[in-house]
Amino acid sequence: MMSMVGSGLAQETGAIKLPPSETAGGMPLTRASAEDKAFYSATDAGFIAQNVYLYCASAGLAVVVRSLVDRDALGAAMGLGRHQRIILAQSVGYPAGSAK
Ligand SMILES: Cc1cc2nc3c(=O)[nH]c(=O)nc-3n(C[C@H](O)[C@H](O)[C@H](O)COP(=O)(O)O)c2cc1C
Repeated sequence: MMSMVGSGLAQETGAIKLPPSETAGGMPLTRASAEDKAFYSATDAGFIAQNVYLYCASAGLAVVVRSLVDRDALGAAMGLGRHQRIILAQSVGYPAGSAK
């Protein structure tokens, strides 16, 4: 999953590429079924998104999770490989009305 900025909150300023999980429950993900891979990817994305939400709350930043993202453009900008997928993105910005 990637964290990026945009939405109605702020202009885009960057993206963070996170390492993929290698195992799930001790099993190498290369041996998991496609359905299990999708499941573990989604749960991982949830954990990551929650951590971004927690950080933003602690830092006084606003954040929303997004499923609507130009995956082709973002994937190309981040240099993602053939087997890497964008699950979700997050928009981070300063809260409306806050002084910068
Ligand atoms: C899985 C998921 C995907 C979402 N995708 C989008 C999205 O692509 N675009 C969007 O505007 N809001 C999306 N939302 C909703 C926003 O994350 C957010 O909840 C909504 O913008 C309301 O935020 P607010 O209460 O701070 O105004 C999504 C929410 C979830 C849970």
